[in-house]
Amino acid sequence: MKGVILAGGLGTRLAPLTNITNKHLLPIYDKPMIYYPMETLVNAGIEDIMVVTGGNNAGDFLRLLGNGKEFGLKWLRYAYQDGEGGIADALALAEHFAEGDKILVMLGDNVIEKNIIESVRRFKDQESGARILLKEVDNPQDYGVAVLEGDRVVNIIEKPKDPPTNLAVIGIYMYDARVFDMIGNISPSARGELEITDVNNMYIEAGDMAYDVLDGWWADSGSSIDGWFRVNKMVAAGGANKI
Ligand code: G1P
Repeated sequence: MKGVILAGGLGTRLAPLTNITNKHLLPIYDKPMIYYPMETLVNAGIEDIMVVTGGNNAGDFLRLLGNGKEFGLKWLRYAYQDGEGGIADALALAEHFAEGDKILVMLGDNVIEKNIIESVRRFKDQESGARILLKEVDNPQDYGVAVLEGDRVVNIIEKPKDPPTNLAVIGIYMYDARVFDMIGNISPSARGELEITDVNNMYIEAGDMAYDVLDGWWADSGSSIDGWFRVNKMVAAGGANKI
């Protein structure tokens, strides 16, 4: 299985910190933000990662991460996203890299306390389909929100005004190779982006979506300055990516 880290976007929600750099290069306590998803994927056994980035500071990722040896990777590759097409648009750039393998995708601004080893093991045992991770949060209206029926996810609603549950879909997704066909079949949302939630809902409609509830805390460090600052304090107090 291969890993993809999505680190594009303009990061306007963290301006002015992001006026001269990419959001994913900002510090979270003692390391650049992108180190955290890198460590999550490496802890899950991934040895081949593609970082998809964009904007004016894309070259800084190469200077920072090099060939990935520091993380123990066999391969580290890069792709460049033109413009602001959204998460699913960025993921489409990894099609050739995936070579038909299953992929583990993580958003470059997500940080977790523990690890996803058990979920990845379950996904490897899954014959086909996708697997997402859910986490109970206080502010579900800021995320994709999962609707459950029994032990199945039956719908995901992106940033609902009136959230049906408090289960956020976190930015870690596992897909089989069909994901690239599905991305080809979605249209831009109201914010002009190809939404990963639309892709996930296609897997749900196909009856091929599994989920786990994440153990330990989860944080999206990219959606507000207050959120970014809070993650810094959480990591300083207790660390992240514990095995
Ligand atoms: C994105 C997804 C959303 C998900 C969130 C997790 O939101 O669209 O479904 O819950 O990441 O970090 P965005 O950061 O693009 O607003």
